[in-house]
Amino acid sequence: TTPISASWKAVDGLNTSQDGNNKKNMISFESSAYKAMINDESRTPLFYKTIEERISQMDKESNNKIVIDLGTGPYAIFAIKAAECGANKVYAIEADAKAAQMARETIIEKGYDDIITVIEGYSTEIELPNNDKADLIIAEIIGSIVSEEGCVTTILDASKRFAKNPTSSQTWIPQRVQTLGCPASYTLHNLFQPPSFDWSKLNGEPIRFNCRDEGLQLLCTSPQIIEDIDFSNIQTYASNRKQQFVFHVDETLIEINKSKLLIELQNNKLRENEALKIALQTSTSFSGLALWPRLILNGNDNGNDNGNDNGNGNTDNKDNNSYSTINSRSYPNGDHQKSHWQTVLPIMNDIPIIVNGSTKITMNINIDL
Ligand SMILES: C[S@@+](CC[C@H](N)C(=O)[O-])C[C@H]1O[C@@H](n2cnc3c(N)ncnc32)[C@H](O)[C@@H]1O
Repeated sequence: TTPISASWKAVDGLNTSQDGNNKKNMISFESSAYKAMINDESRTPLFYKTIEERISQMDKESNNKIVIDLGTGPYAIFAIKAAECGANKVYAIEADAKAAQMARETIIEKGYDDIITVIEGYSTEIELPNNDKADLIIAEIIGSIVSEEGCVTTILDASKRFAKNPTSSQTWIPQRVQTLGCPASYTLHNLFQPPSFDWSKLNGEPIRFNCRDEGLQLLCTSPQIIEDIDFSNIQTYASNRKQQFVFHVDETLIEINKSKLLIELQNNKLRENEALKIALQTSTSFSGLALWPRLILNGNDNGNDNGNDNGNGNTDNKDNNSYSTINSRSYPNGDHQKSHWQTVLPIMNDIPIIVNGSTKITMNINIDL
């Protein structure tokens, strides 16, 4: 056995401001990141569809249909969608001052400022006017590791203070979020090794991959659910956890990975023996645990299909409208996806660890919320 480890603070997008007032700030306003989210075809249309369905299922006679868009962003797209679909009141909460200001402008421009109110600040630090409670809470505050943008604390607080019916899955979009994990190998980890390259300089910070990056290869045919957060049952997730996961490296995947990488390297004009060496090294080594998110917007099942969507893209429509899932990485090939969510890989050892079809990898994972 080879004991190895990695740990890092998964608060991507959140940091403590330098001015000493200890308030959380988003790293910086990045309009390209917001645009990538909006243009994410595996995400935005499914959110729209689910918002439309949920509002259409609310009491048609009621003129008190209240929706929260928690983390509305500069274009307030889900708040506007909710207003278009017939919500009587929408609270669009946004922590980032610049994004909140743009959201206000966008809402006025679209003519929804009578229905949508932008509330600037962290959801955990603001109050709703009149102590209002929402029928529906849309919270797209999901990171590549689903808990990393503080979603557990945020949803726990929202379920206590903002929801009419916090334990109903109909209150939440998404209903459930999961982080999937699978041992992986990384081509550059194999190419650049100490002493010329020092991976420890990453200080445990994981590498973040576009979900189609060929440099990352998964080593097992079954990823496992590392985090499973059901928003309507958030209390059960709201404490730190330790869990053990066992993965068996898959011989057939090693062969598939090797051939794919060989072709890729040869296409990049690498000499055949060099390409073969790298392809063999990469496909038979372990760099760390690859992690990526899955969002269940509707049809809150236990998600036990381990993220395998048969490679047909990103949605599982089990019975037309009732089931919508966003898989940010189709498994085992990421290549159909155009998700803006990344796959995260902590490099767990300076030098990749050799594996074969009979290798068993045991992971002890501690999640400190
Ligand atoms: C992933 S972006 C989503 C933006 C927009 N809803 C969309 O889907 O295109 C998340 C946004 O939520 C904000 N945010 C995250 N946590 C928040 C919280 N607890 N309270 C208020 N805003 C939050 C961030 O500043 C960011 O603008």
